[in-house]
Amino acid sequence: MNGLCAQSRSLAEALADGSEDLPPFIDLTICPPFTQIAAVGDILAGSRIRLGAQDCHVASAGAFTGDISAAMLADLNVRYVIVGHSERRLHHFETDELVNAKARAAIEADLTPIVCIGETSEERDAGIAHERLSAQIATSLPANFRGVVAYEPIWAIGTGRTASIQEIEETTAHIRAAVAAHLETDDKSVPILYGGSVTARDAASILSINSVGGVLVGGASLAADSFLGIALAA
Ligand code: G3P
Repeated sequence: MNGLCAQSRSLAEALADGSEDLPPFIDLTICPPFTQIAAVGDILAGSRIRLGAQDCHVASAGAFTGDISAAMLADLNVRYVIVGHSERRLHHFETDELVNAKARAAIEADLTPIVCIGETSEERDAGIAHERLSAQIATSLPANFRGVVAYEPIWAIGTGRTASIQEIEETTAHIRAAVAAHLETDDKSVPILYGGSVTARDAASILSINSVGGVLVGGASLAADSFLGIALAA
């Protein structure tokens, strides 16, 4: 819930310009707040940056005042939607079952869901992080899942405390195997992103981890130079 229209427009313009020279193998997506999707989408049209959103409702339409459906997002040329972000789980009491239904709604609308999972610091300290993540995967990912999983340890989001390379390496390897087992597919069909205090400084080492396919960026995406710095590191 950052940025008003004027700020988002100038950020999108700077990102569209700055991304032109990046190597073509880097995929970039921006997920603005709902109110700014249309304006940012107009600016990004014709650029290499794709459009995403931060949440969607489970139903495609109907009497759900205040909600936004995946179909409404697709109508604005949105291609990706984040579901199950820990802030949605915390502030809106979203459960793994609801996240599963949102992922299904996204797939039905031809969007690519980015399903977020992550453990609390208490769960990590108690040595049950992998168990917790496996449970989230088993319940949050529908059997027909095609999309992206974002590993965001809750203790690393917005705290400036990035998980260590070893923690990210071990945990994303576990997630990759758990996702493959759950979906009965090979372990490369679902890209795994890391999120949590990623900056241009540590992005290269995070992205060099074999089981990490990309990063989900919060704070550092609010300024063009830090966001493009991460893309350059990729
Ligand atoms: O969705 C990305 C976000 O959860 C990470 O935030 O500020 O820690 O990069 P930040």
